[in-house]
Amino acid sequence: MTVHEQVSLEPYNSFGISAHSAFFTEVKNAVEFWEASQFAAANSLPKLIIGGGSNILLTQDYSGLVIKNNLQGKSIVSETTDDIILRFMSGENWHEAVLWTLANNWYGLENLSLIPGTMGAAPMQNIGAYGVELKDVFHKLEALHLQSGETHTFNANDCAFGYRESVFKNKYKNTYFITAVELRLQKRPHIKADYGDIIDTLSKNNIALQDATPLAISKAVIAIRQSKLPDPKKLGNAGSFFKNPSISVSQFEALTKKFPDIKGYSQANEKVKVPAGWLIEQCGYKGKIVGNCGSHAKQALVLVNYGQAKGNEILALAKEIQETVFQKFGITIEPEVNII
Ligand code: EPU
Repeated sequence: MTVHEQVSLEPYNSFGISAHSAFFTEVKNAVEFWEASQFAAANSLPKLIIGGGSNILLTQDYSGLVIKNNLQGKSIVSETTDDIILRFMSGENWHEAVLWTLANNWYGLENLSLIPGTMGAAPMQNIGAYGVELKDVFHKLEALHLQSGETHTFNANDCAFGYRESVFKNKYKNTYFITAVELRLQKRPHIKADYGDIIDTLSKNNIALQDATPLAISKAVIAIRQSKLPDPKKLGNAGSFFKNPSISVSQFEALTKKFPDIKGYSQANEKVKVPAGWLIEQCGYKGKIVGNCGSHAKQALVLVNYGQAKGNEILALAKEIQETVFQKFGITIEPEVNII
């Protein structure tokens, strides 16, 4: 494990923010991670663990130690005629893992194609897209307790998964380093295409729903994402900047009187989830450029860096959008991205 000083974090965050870290190291295994932790403790440095860097906004230089997770490896744990349990080290790239499973005819990750980031970040925020969440395929994970250095195992219940939530963003924030994730995938396809755009995209490719394979679903999801979401290599961004807010049925009904076009999806908890992208678009921000940043022209929920934006500039735009949405609709939208 080598610790470098004054390292540019620009290649390590998908927003492409050019902040620096006072100390920086890459770790390939749990032992190296533990050594890095000890270095931080011995020098009284705060530490920041990053995977793909695709869900962070760096608002300033980092005065502590950035630990880049580079734990690699994947294997089969066990299998039956119906399903298979796969183990991935937490630094594995998510989308490459999805493609690997599909190439081996193991199913369940197809709707989660092309999500940026690493395996370790997936349970952290219970990644989700096109009607599937990580929790639907999750088996268990291993995590290193940052204080004791012990490895603890978490099953799905222990993780307390919610919408873009887990115990690792709440009760155990900054308490664990996830080292490995196990997923249970299926050997027979269970197609989930109820998300509107998927069926439309399949039919554009002349594929009827009953003939759709998991690979066709994956290709459709990739096409949809590429049509709406900017490629971070070309335009810095961290996907959806805000979560979709949940409001009460009565608040939603009152809003439909004032805004007849408002969209809402009923939740099991008697709440209605409202698409934040729609709220932001109604406030006139879709495609709007403010200085070096803006809201994406094809998906208002995605904030983008036009090249030279400082993290603070993007944060200021995010706050302005939050306030405008609140003033117009009385709804608070919360960031999905971790602000550092
Ligand atoms: N909408 C607008 N204007 C916009 C954007 C969206 O009116 O500018 C409306 C759409 O018309 C649609 C609704 O909002 O009716 C939902 O839009 P979309 O299908 O694009 O999904 P989303 O709710 O904006 C969520 C996830 C995405 C995920 C997609 C697909 C969150 C915060 N975001 O976005 O996840 O890919 O659904 O399942 O839940 C991410 O987390 O980074 C991410 C990209």
